Amino acid sequence: MTGLVVVAADALSREDVEVLLGMAGEWKLLRPGRWVASYEVDGEDVARKLVVELRNAGHPAVAGPPDEARAIAWNKLNRPTPIGGRAEVCFPWIGSNAEIVIEIDPGVGFGTGGHPSTRLLLEELASAIKGNESVLDVGCGSGVLAIASVCFGAECAMGIDINAAGLVAAKTNACRNQIADQTEFSSMSLTEISGTYDVVVANIHDDVLREMAEDLVARLAPNGWLGLSGVSPAQLSRLRGAFPQITFGEPRKMGDWNALIGRRQIE
Ligand SMILES: C[S@@+](CC[C@H](N)C(=O)[O-])C[C@H]1O[C@@H](n2cnc3c(N)ncnc32)[C@H](O)[C@@H]1O
Repeated sequence: MTGLVVVAADALSREDVEVLLGMAGEWKLLRPGRWVASYEVDGEDVARKLVVELRNAGHPAVAGPPDEARAIAWNKLNRPTPIGGRAEVCFPWIGSNAEIVIEIDPGVGFGTGGHPSTRLLLEELASAIKGNESVLDVGCGSGVLAIASVCFGAECAMGIDINAAGLVAAKTNACRNQIADQTEFSSMSLTEISGTYDVVVANIHDDVLREMAEDLVARLAPNGWLGLSGVSPAQLSRLRGAFPQITFGEPRKMGDWNALIGRRQIE
């Protein structure tokens, strides 16, 4: 039984991968600056061990499907997530023909871009970002929402999270999308953040959203919009009630997941 290691690299890191694996790879160019190679190795355990070694050395790698039967499930898990007609979020080792390709590897953090609660906000960002906005992403995980905002034209994005692994992934993802200078990721709590943002998004459990309500609204610029996601239909009215200063539109829905998009009430 063979195993498969799939690894992504840029022009410079390709050689490092080959040194680490002790063999030359057959590299395929996925898009400008992004190469991928698949290495057949001696079994699935070996593949998993090499993936850990590659990841520890900073290379985005994954165990590939060892046989055709499992390739179907693997391809399904690894396919890009289309957003708003001209963008796709994908893993670094996956090809995409979209006009805007957002590469995200969440590592052990949350946020491949494929979860419906994330997609609801990604769709909103893709249509509502007009250019030059500032964005605050509360519970940023892999940074997918903050990074996508900048890829859609926002001037800058700040992401905060309580999960250290997510923050490491978010910073790496910002670098691989070449927007590190427009993003900041921090373990600061929402209460420690100052100033206001044109867009505030949060995809977190509804009880956390309700607890944070006052601070989320405080960070919203007068003409800004707030996006809350990760909400079940049963939680919608209680969540709305926690934000008396915000007028929400009809919930955006994807399967059982909902998002509320709102603006400050005009006084
Ligand atoms: C559902 S994930 C969303 C990740 C990403 N924003 C996305 O949409 O894919 C929720 C994130 O919120 C973070 N989180 C939970 N409670 C938090 C809090 N009080 N402050 C900041 N982040 C929090 C978690 O660590 C997790 O990364």
